[in-house]
Amino acid sequence: YKRITTKSLVEMKAQGEKISMLTSYDFSMAKIVDGAGIDVILVGDSASNVMAGHETTLPITLDQMIYHAVSVVRAVERALVVVDLPFGSYQSDPKEALRSAIRIMKESGGHAVKLEGGKEIKDSVKRILNAGIPVMGHLGLTPQSIYKFGTYTVRAKEEAEAEKLKTDALMLEKAGCFALVLEKVPAKLAKEVAESLTIPVIGIGAGNGVDGQVLVVHDMIGMTHEFNPRFLRRYLDLYSEMTKAFEQYRDDVKSRNFPSDDEQY
Ligand code: KIV
Ligand code: NA
Repeated sequence: YKRITTKSLVEMKAQGEKISMLTSYDFSMAKIVDGAGIDVILVGDSASNVMAGHETTLPITLDQMIYHAVSVVRAVERALVVVDLPFGSYQSDPKEALRSAIRIMKESGGHAVKLEGGKEIKDSVKRILNAGIPVMGHLGLTPQSIYKFGTYTVRAKEEAEAEKLKTDALMLEKAGCFALVLEKVPAKLAKEVAESLTIPVIGIGAGNGVDGQVLVVHDMIGMTHEFNPRFLRRYLDLYSEMTKAFEQYRDDVKSRNFPSDDEQY
């Protein structure tokens, strides 16, 4: 694929090719992620935690999401760029949801939006899709509802919640979503959902029976140190590497080792 589209992702699922997805919030990171051949880049509202240092995803605004998305889109040549609709930009009514989605598409140049929730946001999803804007769903642990859940533990372990999740997943596919994120649910349930849908299901903490995987990029490269859920595989320990580099630089400045004769004019 020269350029990933929502169609390519559905094709990948049909052909049994797993989908790779990572977040990015800025130009420099997106350039590396896209250059590495990651299929989907999510401008996640996890920027609220990772970029701004908030405890939850709730405070980030639509304007801030657009700023991140603009920076990412400028860097990307191949990946599909999906942008999260932040908390408060779509829950009031479908018109508000559509207005927010249109702002993201017009002002950032992103290719699709992602919303959290099932039947509660059905009308908003339909309204956005009717305007020609691709929608990715997000079920299971939905961090914008964290104060309702109370904890970040695994979702849908009980029958009633699992049944609602399955119903919501089917509804999102029927409404026309091109893909679905499942966050922190039992692997068995996620596999069942993935097998019951033709649109790809992309998991985070949802096991290997789904059609693709997504991680927060700063977590997988080890820039965040305190976040250690079981589902996270760290491919680098950048926190330690960067600390070493900064300490070395500090020492070099203090000791007059930097700059050397070669590093000046
Ligand atoms: O905001 C985010 O990073 C996400 C992913 C964890 C799916 O929504
Ligand atoms: Na998100």
